[in-house]
Amino acid sequence: MESEEIKRRIERLRAEIELNDRLYYVEAKPAIGDADYDAMYNELLALEKAHPEFYDPASPTQRVSGEPLGSFAQVRHDPPMQSLDKTHSKGELVAFDDFIRKTVEGFTYLVEPKIDGVSMSLRYENRRLVRAATRGNGIVGDDVTQNVRTIKSVPLSLPADAPDTLEVRGEVYMTRDGFAELNARLEESGGEPFANPRNACAGSLKLLDPKVVAKRPLDIVVYNSGGVGCDSFARHSEMIAAFKRWGFPVAPWAKSCKTIDEVFAAIDELGGRRHSFRFEIDGAVVKIDERRFYGVLGATAHGPRWARAFKYAPERAETVVESITVQIGRTGILTPVAELRPVELAGSVISRATLHNADQVARQDIRIGDHVWLVKAGDVIPAIDSSIKERRDGTERVFEMPTTCPVCGGGVVRLEGEVAVRCVNPACPAQLQRRLEHFASRNALDIKALGGRIADVLVERGLVRDPLDLFTLDWDVLAGLDVGEEGVPRKFGKNAKNMRDAVEAARGLPLERWLFAVGIPNVGVTVAKDIAAEHERFSDLAGSPVLREVVENDARKGRKRKILKIKVEAARAVLAFFASPYGAGFAARMKELGIDPKRAEAEAVRTDGPLAGAGCVLTGTLSRPRTEYAKMIELAGGIVQGAVTSRTKYLIAGANVGATKTEKARALGTEVIDEARLLELLGSSAKPPPDAPAPSAGTAAPVQGELF
Ligand code: IVH
Repeated sequence: MESEEIKRRIERLRAEIELNDRLYYVEAKPAIGDADYDAMYNELLALEKAHPEFYDPASPTQRVSGEPLGSFAQVRHDPPMQSLDKTHSKGELVAFDDFIRKTVEGFTYLVEPKIDGVSMSLRYENRRLVRAATRGNGIVGDDVTQNVRTIKSVPLSLPADAPDTLEVRGEVYMTRDGFAELNARLEESGGEPFANPRNACAGSLKLLDPKVVAKRPLDIVVYNSGGVGCDSFARHSEMIAAFKRWGFPVAPWAKSCKTIDEVFAAIDELGGRRHSFRFEIDGAVVKIDERRFYGVLGATAHGPRWARAFKYAPERAETVVESITVQIGRTGILTPVAELRPVELAGSVISRATLHNADQVARQDIRIGDHVWLVKAGDVIPAIDSSIKERRDGTERVFEMPTTCPVCGGGVVRLEGEVAVRCVNPACPAQLQRRLEHFASRNALDIKALGGRIADVLVERGLVRDPLDLFTLDWDVLAGLDVGEEGVPRKFGKNAKNMRDAVEAARGLPLERWLFAVGIPNVGVTVAKDIAAEHERFSDLAGSPVLREVVENDARKGRKRKILKIKVEAARAVLAFFASPYGAGFAARMKELGIDPKRAEAEAVRTDGPLAGAGCVLTGTLSRPRTEYAKMIELAGGIVQGAVTSRTKYLIAGANVGATKTEKARALGTEVIDEARLLELLGSSAKPPPDAPAPSAGTAAPVQGELF
């Protein structure tokens, strides 16, 4: 390719990736599949690598870039980043309304959610993101540009109709789901969980290494001008609409109101929905829409007089800690749990709340018998906010973490640098039950008949002492097993056969699933995939040179370009597992059972097939399931895409396809064909080859035999 042509291709790819990032991360309307996206992204990476002369910091490949910082540079805010005066009652809002009415005439209110995150100022020059800074003390904040660039919904560049120089302000937040996952991960690895999404967000933005930040589920909403580039807007609402057009995420809900009564109604409506957003809201912000009034309204030391925050009363309920029990997790971590007198909170009855770890119980000084305030922390999980000391009568007891495992009686240890206390007996029945459940879970070996109750029964009856015992179970005994609860007998019966089929099918599952199933701390689904990609078979994992290399490389602090995706903690954990007596025993048992899972091979596609290399998009109403066509196309060597791109050869149009779609496709050089023509093109490869086993519904997929 000519240099000019390469440049054009790079620009085209950047624009397409940006557009798709925006559709995915900002508008939640993905238009293409992962495979197509990855293909574009990888092509761009390769071109940029081969042509460093076209480097651009605003390229979507450059979100995570730069070395870890020693500290953050300071940024001066001009104008300062103000705060907001807060009101807690409608009475205070009436006073606000009186003041506004006395000062200006012909105004409109806007009610917006008050997002509980970390305020951020974003500066664009020449329509490129040049700086992101935290509020700090309002005058000077931290330059966290490297970190904020990793947030996929933050545009790195703006469209041509945006001002050259623009500063916008908003709130970075951690999604509620992301927060729950992050905390689960932290607890699993013995770390300290965050108290709420806001703290988790603030903590993430303070990390000095953007690579770590990139893995945190952060997002942003912009809601204000930063004083540069927004003068032309008469109304705040118009400005927000423009932000949205320029690709910024804005609040998904806002209401325009004429009177203070309408404002109250909007606040109530928002209050009713407060748990439905991806972010936490701790109130509503009432603003004047007409920006021409801002000057005369002025500001207090706290914040502008054209806006007020209204804080919702926290949702809390009083109850009593009846006892504190200790739960044992899959990796042996002991977690104290408060058993509460049942109480209603935000629409559900709560009778338990995790206390995370002994340190936290001591820090919060929560005693058995205490009256406590229960709150919906992060509006997701109920948590004890505080104990009500005034209600103590002296009968309360201080909780002490057991020094032996409450289930198996074995010793517990607290590892250095961890807050968690662990039971270290791998044969502990409680651990075993949770491990067995994990072993059988969907992303592991997917043994559906082995739900929580059955796992408990198998362990209680001594039928399973290790997950691998599943492979030597006596299925007749199992069929006759009583798995009933509370004195109501129930035979396991036919489920035994389902379980046996699933267990047999599990033998043929790929390495990544098995590695995840083992349940090594720090080895989740993705990590297991990354590690499996570098190993042929399960038996290669013990003492693996690849994993050693990862660990040693880190110990040398060699900032060599990372060639493998494998994380150090994970590599270390896997090595430690196989070096432990339990791990070594597990590996030996696998061998005995003749199970040695192999790396998943990409399914063979025919490079010589009738559709070899042809991009295909399926659209409209088709006479067969889309997945069926997709499979047929792939077997014929075609590539199924989610949307038409310049690399699409055929658009397979079923019924009810709009003309715009087909015209757009033709303009890109794509051939528009119908189902009949597709079948013609597929020819014989549409039918299964004569020697292939006929697929039979309901049974497990045949295990692929040894190829060599
Ligand atoms: S407007 C002068 N709108 O709440 C600042 N702020 O407690 C005008 N906040 O510092 C800000 N959601 O960080 C505005 N919809 C929203 C907001 C919002 C959250 C934050 C902002 C402010 C803080 C005050």
